[in-house]
Amino acid sequence: MNTLFDMSFEDAKAQHKKLAAEIRRHDALYYQQDEPEISDAAYDELRRELEALEQKHPDLAQSDSPTQRVGAAPAQGFKKVQHAVPMLSLSNVFSEEDVQGFLDKIRRFLGLREEDNIELVAEPKIDGLSCSLRYVDRKLVQAATRGDGAEGEDITENIKTIKEIPQELPAGAPDILEVRGEIYMRRSAFTKLNEDLAAQGKKIFANPRNAAAGSVRQLNPKITASRPLGFFGYALGEVSEDFASTHEEIRKKLSAWNIPETPYALCHDLEEVIKNYNKLQQERPDLDYEIDGIVYKVNRLDWQERLGFVSRAPRWATAHKFPAQQAITKLLGIDIQVGRTGALTPVARLEPITVGGVVVSNATLHNEDEIKRKDVRIGDYVTVQRAGDVIPQITGVLTEKRDGKQAEFIYPDHCPVCGSIAIREEGEVVRRCTGGLICEAQGVERLKHFVSRLAFDIDGLGAKIIEEFWADQLIRKPADIFTLEQRNRESLTPIRAREGWGDLSEKNLFEAINTRRTIPLNRFVYALGIRQIGEATAKRLAAIYGTFENLQAAMDKAQDRESEAYAELLSIEDIGPSVTDDLLGFFAEEHNKEVLLDLTAHLTITPFEAPKTSDSAVAGKTVVFTGTLTQLTRAEAKARAESLGAKVSGSVSKKTDYVVAGEDSGSKLKKAQELGVNVLSEQEWLDFIAE
Ligand code: IVH
Repeated sequence: MNTLFDMSFEDAKAQHKKLAAEIRRHDALYYQQDEPEISDAAYDELRRELEALEQKHPDLAQSDSPTQRVGAAPAQGFKKVQHAVPMLSLSNVFSEEDVQGFLDKIRRFLGLREEDNIELVAEPKIDGLSCSLRYVDRKLVQAATRGDGAEGEDITENIKTIKEIPQELPAGAPDILEVRGEIYMRRSAFTKLNEDLAAQGKKIFANPRNAAAGSVRQLNPKITASRPLGFFGYALGEVSEDFASTHEEIRKKLSAWNIPETPYALCHDLEEVIKNYNKLQQERPDLDYEIDGIVYKVNRLDWQERLGFVSRAPRWATAHKFPAQQAITKLLGIDIQVGRTGALTPVARLEPITVGGVVVSNATLHNEDEIKRKDVRIGDYVTVQRAGDVIPQITGVLTEKRDGKQAEFIYPDHCPVCGSIAIREEGEVVRRCTGGLICEAQGVERLKHFVSRLAFDIDGLGAKIIEEFWADQLIRKPADIFTLEQRNRESLTPIRAREGWGDLSEKNLFEAINTRRTIPLNRFVYALGIRQIGEATAKRLAAIYGTFENLQAAMDKAQDRESEAYAELLSIEDIGPSVTDDLLGFFAEEHNKEVLLDLTAHLTITPFEAPKTSDSAVAGKTVVFTGTLTQLTRAEAKARAESLGAKVSGSVSKKTDYVVAGEDSGSKLKKAQELGVNVLSEQEWLDFIAE
């Protein structure tokens, strides 16, 4: 047989052609169809053979050779899409009282009178995955998943295979229309799909939701086409013109434009809401789609607009969840997990059981008091409940099933991972490992948080890979992520040589890491995993301090509790003394300073861009409201100012731009006058922001 080295040019050419065709075929299988036939290693072998041929016969390295493609294959997965209007989630309510609370809050926010009715549209909460359809000039041009709400994935080609989604809208529909809704799989189709998959010896889906998500996230639209999916529209994104004044009208218009809509009910008071809830709960088993609750939306769009949003959910809508599904199983043991802040969390290990279509083998036990309070013992039979996406919980113990063999659980007073003492401070429910930086569990959890979805969100570097790379000492601190490629180049055991990896997946990983070398400040701050600094607070800090240098400088100054920087920090919404302690503690710690110095050298941190860009005169200004407002409630005034890009602060300082003084203003007004800050009456303020 010919070997590479004694092959004639003609033979080499023929061989090259064959290999190149083979590689192209595998590229298509991998990238377009998401169905590779060979392992990454076998694929790499083919490429190496091709490269060797070309080295021997450089003339073969023509521009159409697979070796010549720069940045060659299309990026793995789907293109990212920025949502023109963020895709939100919903708050939840679970009881009649909660619904009352939801209505009360709206009433207070809008300053409604006792006799004013709040009309709600009640529609089923479809258990699928949300999707935004974008129509331009009445043609479907883009479909995207929700992603993190700001950025989703482009699934246009797959969505175009769903027959009940119109590719064109009739005349009369706006020039730009984004329809938000839920993609789901009908129960009947789900059962049939699983039967087919089982017959082919393939893995079946746990529930219709997973089946719908799995079908949409197929790189090969042909597979999506073969899966019977449905769609229900329930909200709007960007629109070029207003065409309705109530949510009900929106639904009717969408329906007239052939967008499928669920049935709905109009409710005018709590009684009607609850009646409808009970009715739908009864109908639930007979519906051909899975629902996990009912969504209530304030019908009047002008009220929706005034109510606005808190963090990621609208104030004008909420989801009334159906009660959780329950099952009984045996508690096999209790494991202690250590989180990134050192918190010890007990997790119940269960005999696997199906609850509401999902196999459950773990459940949270919250903390040590909870174990005592419920008197949960190892070997007990327990009721487990699952509701929506929340972690399964143990809700009760069947004490009558005890046979004397059940053992009480002794809560550890040492960290099960690093062995340091675990302390429970006065008044705290959580016991924490004191190992801090030496505790491996905390280290790896901090890194998992660092790469998580709302933080750096690095494709291909999820929790599992972090654990592996941690164990192999490849990544031990955040900066290691950004030096990984360099170190890998010099390594004798590169990532591509690892089990389950290859040239391609290695390349994709580094590409994904490189795209995150530029990161918005809010994500960066959140990624640091400072105790009590969640996504919303990180955004607030980013909006107020603008750049990381400013933030860090302010935190340095604020270490002095007498400083103005400290007072400013405390005046920020939702940042009280306890959050301040955690923040300042983080920035004072020497090791953290080193980690930050090391890390920021690899990054470009961009300013936080508030989701709604506002050209209002008050954008970026700091406003303080004081005294009694008469035309709108304090909450609404604040929300409206914030939606225009203003920062609302609780105390007056030199940095305050405007003080809006209502009736009976006291010390804040006085301070404003002393400092020479602009003071406006309520009416002046309203005129000012109306411009
Ligand atoms: S409205 C601004 N309506 O539930 C309004 N959402 O838990 C945002 N969902 O992400 C959503 N049925 O995927 C709305 N009738 C319905 C819904 C619905 C299902 C999903 C949606 C959303 C999630 C929030």
